[in-house]
Amino acid sequence: MNKLEKINKSTTWIKNRLTLEPNLGMVLGSGLSETMNSRIDGAEEVSWSDIPFFPEPSVKGHEGKFISGTINENPVLIQQGRIHWYEGLPWKDVIYPIRVQKKLGIEKLIMTNAAGGINRDFEPGDLCLITDHINFSGDNPLRGENLDEFGPRFPDLTRAYDEDLREAAVSVGKEMDIDLKQGVYVMTSGPSYETPAEISALRTLGADLVGMSTVPETITANHAGLDVLAISCVTNKAAGMQEKLTHEEVLEVTERTNKTLGKLISGIVGRV
Ligand code: HPA
Repeated sequence: MNKLEKINKSTTWIKNRLTLEPNLGMVLGSGLSETMNSRIDGAEEVSWSDIPFFPEPSVKGHEGKFISGTINENPVLIQQGRIHWYEGLPWKDVIYPIRVQKKLGIEKLIMTNAAGGINRDFEPGDLCLITDHINFSGDNPLRGENLDEFGPRFPDLTRAYDEDLREAAVSVGKEMDIDLKQGVYVMTSGPSYETPAEISALRTLGADLVGMSTVPETITANHAGLDVLAISCVTNKAAGMQEKLTHEEVLEVTERTNKTLGKLISGIVGRV
């Protein structure tokens, strides 16, 4: 069975189990998975482990599922968890959930992640709208045979992060009195955090935030014609800007930021 047939089979299986057909999708990352749980009504869930041909994330705490329901009466599809490149799975698996979201009818995608702050004005606990990215993973998720069904061989990334969605996020942030920062996100492959020398190099290149996800999904979503909005939760100052980095700190900061992020995303959902 080829890649496309597998994606189609996974999609049909999911479609048969969900009542709603939302056109707004979400990807909620590390420690941020629970953000929307208390805000979603009529939730229906499917676990990735039950979906035929769906890849399995290897990292504990990243068990994936799709949840469909409504937020402020707007139908949404929430992807809880993601597959990271550092887990060692092939690119086709990392981007598989995004392609399934596209096939499920998603047109707009809101993503969240945890990121280190490279910009000296960013503090742990800040929320930051991603305005553009630098792909420092060393590879491109679309390398290899192009699936014409989704998009062209050479997709344009001039507006990888949709301007209308960003405007909506900024205005909701203002109304809610949330100090929403804006910046360029750089993806490193991980799983090690960066060195201080890498962080100063990345700052010189123009990056404000660093993380190990989102870029592959954004490239894949743009390839498939989806509009993307991405928000980082700054969980730490990047390497060399604080004493040391730990995953525990990342989780602790996402946990305390979840509520504000949930509020912001609900507001955005009502606006787009
Ligand atoms: N670097 C890379 N990924 C991250 C970081 C970081 O400092 N913080 C959270 N995810």
